[in-house]
Amino acid sequence: MNVNQATFLKATSKLFGVDFVPKIPESSKNEAGEPSLDSVEQSHALHCKHCTTQHGYTNIVFGCGNPHADIMFIGEAPGEEEDKQGEPFVGAAGQKLNEIISAMKLTRDDVYIANIIKVRPENNRTPREDEIALCAPYLVKQIECIQPKVIVALGSPASKFLLQTSVGITRLRGNWGWFDSIPVMPTYHPAYLLRNYTTETRKEVWSDIQQVLKKVQALGKTSQV
Ligand code: URA
Repeated sequence: MNVNQATFLKATSKLFGVDFVPKIPESSKNEAGEPSLDSVEQSHALHCKHCTTQHGYTNIVFGCGNPHADIMFIGEAPGEEEDKQGEPFVGAAGQKLNEIISAMKLTRDDVYIANIIKVRPENNRTPREDEIALCAPYLVKQIECIQPKVIVALGSPASKFLLQTSVGITRLRGNWGWFDSIPVMPTYHPAYLLRNYTTETRKEVWSDIQQVLKKVQALGKTSQV
């Protein structure tokens, strides 16, 4: 964890009255003292103060895709289908995300997909800030492991968390922000796009995605499997 992330976690902890940082066993860190994605997943399953205290879900949906991806998509929380299958974005919103990924001439195996909350909230409600404060430190660790070139924040909760802002997605989308030193492009959530399937919203999302592709190209790294 670098200084910015440590400060960020401390600030988040203070903000929501939470006093912890994720526990990653020393034995599962690499030579540089950084945790592996597997160890973050195990640590989350054992210690997440949000997910380990919830009921009524089937699977923890940690994330999927290329652990060396240039592009990381971050959504809100698993829905019914994701809970059943244990994989993010496999329901209707997932089909739309798949279309976006194919339009980028990529596959789900080229990118990494995760959520800010890793178990399904009851009745598919939007995660609360206190829940995000408890679970998202593991997402921060995930980001640290993957080190994507660019993050695409899908919808309001992911954008607000990553950019530490209360500004709504309509104003945020299309404008670069930063998470630590990683550029973040906020855009509409695919579920919002499905509910508001207009020429305007489609154009906006595609324009955001084109900015992402240009940024990755400018940063000049190719994904390795
Ligand atoms: N919506 C999300 O935000 N994430 C999922 O994994 C599925 C639907």
